[in-house]
Amino acid sequence: MDKLVIFGGRPLNGEVRVSGAKNSVLPILAATLLTDEPCVIKNAPYLRDTNTMLRILRSLGKNAEFSNDKIHVTTRESDKFIADYRLVSTMRASFCVLGPLLGKLKKAKVSYPGGCVIGIRPVDLHLKGIEALGAEVKIESGYVNTQAKNLKGNHIYLGGEFGSSVLATDNVMMAATLAKGKTIIEAAACEPEVTDLANFLVKMGAKIKGQGSPRIEIEGVKQLHGAEYSIIPDRIEAGTFMLAAAITKGQITIKGVIWEHLLALIDKLEQAGVKIKKIDGKLIVNGKRRLKPVNATTLPYPGFPTDLQAQFMTLMAVTPGASIISEKIYPDRFMHIAELNRMGANIKREGPHAIVQGVKLLSGAPLMASDLRASAALVLAGLVARGKTEISRIYHLDRGYENLEVKLNKLGAKIHREKE
Ligand code: UD1
Repeated sequence: MDKLVIFGGRPLNGEVRVSGAKNSVLPILAATLLTDEPCVIKNAPYLRDTNTMLRILRSLGKNAEFSNDKIHVTTRESDKFIADYRLVSTMRASFCVLGPLLGKLKKAKVSYPGGCVIGIRPVDLHLKGIEALGAEVKIESGYVNTQAKNLKGNHIYLGGEFGSSVLATDNVMMAATLAKGKTIIEAAACEPEVTDLANFLVKMGAKIKGQGSPRIEIEGVKQLHGAEYSIIPDRIEAGTFMLAAAITKGQITIKGVIWEHLLALIDKLEQAGVKIKKIDGKLIVNGKRRLKPVNATTLPYPGFPTDLQAQFMTLMAVTPGASIISEKIYPDRFMHIAELNRMGANIKREGPHAIVQGVKLLSGAPLMASDLRASAALVLAGLVARGKTEISRIYHLDRGYENLEVKLNKLGAKIHREKE
């Protein structure tokens, strides 16, 4: 296993380009199961999670290969409908093969995903949605076993206790593209990655309206065809670089970004005193001024993203004064607090809230990464800390950030990878 060694205390300056969005490429690859024709996915990020999805597609009868930042998907066998536990258990997002398999083959058997360190993460909304389309669902031996003679469009309310669900919206939308008649999803997730998936489905011949709003309408069609499509930039990666500029008191130009996807973070950073210039396809983030603390609460899009909560907390941990960070999507997503406190941060957890008392300085320490975004938060902490920080179990980072240490080193960081 690899670890990252970071020598902190260097301001980051320069330009960086963000990769394609992880949360787009995974469901979009799953959507290729809706057709037997070839598909080409461009601007695909080379990530551990992308490779896991390619392995799942191959196990489901596809040929799927990277060439540079493109993925070519063709069909070898078109009747495979079982997504195996060993593959699905390594990545929750693989559950989004359920909708396309059911849509195309009218049956699917997909391993029931387990929980993870950020919480229990149920799939009740996914199952409710596909049942509303007429599928029969059974949970048997750890698998979700589902089939339907015919899928029929329906008017479905998909809101849950914590608001909308990204992958449940994706799953139901994909199944509905090949259902008979019209499906309306109310309380649909509005995340840009859901819109990206819908746009890809439209390129495949699906009839979808309202993507990006809480009401998505899908008029079922008989079949979908192959398509070529370019993935949107990763707003979470872009946000992580924005926070890297702010925390190291540097200036970073982030290229290839759609800044409209980052308005909640931009708003918080501006309130904190970070200067941000928004140009078409570019953000210039200047963190050289003295910052002040601001509160943040995670919410479904366009609210503050839970996937940037840990990284934002790290910035507040070194911003003198008090702030409260509340988690409304995953109330247990606070694994990073203990590690940040080991570096000298002063953060207390009270249920779904973290009370952060900003300190002047963090000091480098050996740390353990627990999940993807918490790992990114520890990297930010290492960048600003005095001395040496070693982060173990960084395979989490490789799941969702393409060449993170290479990109950071180009901006002036001092990071290297070592075998443990
Ligand atoms: C997606 C993202 C993940 C992000 C999350 C929230 C991908 C691959 N992953 O995950 O990075 O952190 O959105 O923005 O796109 N819920 C239920 N029942 C369900 C499904 C979800 O109660 O059937 C709850 C979840 O526990 C959570 C909330 O709904 O509290 C939102 O989760 P959801 O949007 O489904 O997350 P994912 O789609 O799994």
